[in-house]
Parts: sequence; structure tokens; C-alpha cells
Amino acid sequence: MTGNEIRRKFLEYFERNGHKIVHSSPLLPANDPTLLFTNAGMNQFKDVFTGVEKRDYNRAVSSQKCIRAGGKHNDLDEVGKTARHHTFFEMLGNFSFGDYFKEDAIRFAWDFLVNELKLEESRLWFSVFEGDAEVPADDEARALWEKVGAKPERILGFGRKDNFWQMGDTGPCGPCSEIHYYMGEEPDNPEKNHPKWVNGEGDTTMEIWNLVFMQFERSEVEKGVFELKPLPAPSVDTGAGLERMTAVLQGVKTNYDTDLLMPIVEFSAQLSQKNES
Ligand code: SER
Repeated sequence: MTGNEIRRKFLEYFERNGHKIVHSSPLLPANDPTLLFTNAGMNQFKDVFTGVEKRDYNRAVSSQKCIRAGGKHNDLDEVGKTARHHTFFEMLGNFSFGDYFKEDAIRFAWDFLVNELKLEESRLWFSVFEGDAEVPADDEARALWEKVGAKPERILGFGRKDNFWQMGDTGPCGPCSEIHYYMGEEPDNPEKNHPKWVNGEGDTTMEIWNLVFMQFERSEVEKGVFELKPLPAPSVDTGAGLERMTAVLQGVKTNYDTDLLMPIVEFSAQLSQKNES
């Protein structure tokens, strides 16, 4: 499948499941002083999550253009060092605004990866929030991954840095659950396909999808003092890097080797006449 086909497959899968296809918003967010560049698919829906804005749909799907070169989600220091970070990328995402919550978010993600894309289950890992003083452990997400078919030993707990998502210092937020994919050889060899690579070093196991269970809004009640309040209705915000998903499905080692980016590399090489690889 080409990268364009993967994008289309994602949008059509969620459209079949009752989601409205929404265009990517611009890279410069409108009316949001908390953000310089759009950093996630959920940005354009921020006020829908908090209940300030109403739309005529409560499920959406998009492929959002994102820049992560500053602010809370800054990938700039990783670009050029890993096979999977970019300043600019596209984020595939499905969203529920007070409609479905954890159970369906997990069921859709499993169904899309395992039944639609036919990824090997033995390469998939799942992470859930292990809890802290502010928000309890997400035992529900763990149980729901097992319910759809994930093996218990492939579901790992992590702390706030990896498994609690917020777009900035303020705004809608919540615990999240990520799906990681092992790209190496011998997936059935536990010495190679090892849990230590999930959120660990290297690119062989990488995050491919993040499911955020939007439950709270963080606001600044006075300068430097933040408060976490429940959202009017629990919601879902997911994000899957199109370039990473494409690298997995095209069986290449870096995002730059996918058909989304290689033509740009080749064109630049041609222009600069530096096309020796
Ligand atoms: N907002 C979450 C993220 O950026 C899921 O889309 O990871």
C-alpha cells in the first residue's frame, strides 16, 4: 500500500464506523494563544472537547498536518537522530466528543490494525497509565486490551511522561494508551522482541498510535497554579503518525524510506546532483 492509500484506508474505516471526515486545519492554529503551531489532530477540536463549541457531529476522523518544533511537544532535538521523528508530519486520528469512550476506542484500534491492516499481533505492544498521586492507574484500559485479544504480558504500565497527554500547559487532557510496533527480526524470539524496547532506546520498537482518553481540563486558576477538572463528557482523541504507519506497512527501516518522503529526497538529490546513496 502507498502512503496515500493508507491515509485513505484510515479515513474510510472510521467513516464506515460513523465518523465525519474533517479536513486538516491549518498549521497556524486560529484563535489559540496557547499554541504557535498545530501539534496534534485534536487542536481544532479543543473547544468541542471542553463543551464550549458544539458541532453537528460527535465522531470525527482526520489526517492533520502537524509541526512539533517548539512548545510542549518538541521533537526538534530528535530529528536527524532517529528514524521516526520529523518537524512536519501527518497525524491520523479518530475523535469522539462525549460519544464513545475507552471500550470502543480500543476496539476500533485493534480491529483496524489487526483485521484491516493485518499487522502481526506478535509485533504489537500496548502501554497504559500506571497512575500517580493525581490520577489513578488505568486498570480499565488494561482490561479492555485483554478483552479485544491482547496478551496480558504485552500490556505495560508507564508514568505521566509517556501515558498522560495534554496539548500544552492548559486544555483538555487525560491518561493515554499507546500501541508500539516491533520492526525487527524474529518477532517470536523474546530476547529480540523485548519489552525493554517499548519507550526504550532505538527505533526497532516504535510508537505507532496513541489513544488519549480525554477526561479532564487543566486550567490556570492563578499565575502558576493549575487545576484539573473533569470534562463535561469523557471523550477520545487518537493520533497515529502516517509516516510511521507507512514505514511499518512498507517494511522499511526509516520514515524517510517510505514513498511519502523518498520522492522528495530523490528530487533534492537530483537538483543538488548529490545522488550517490
Ligand atoms: N493528541 C494525542 C497525541 O498527539 C493523540 O492524538 O499523541
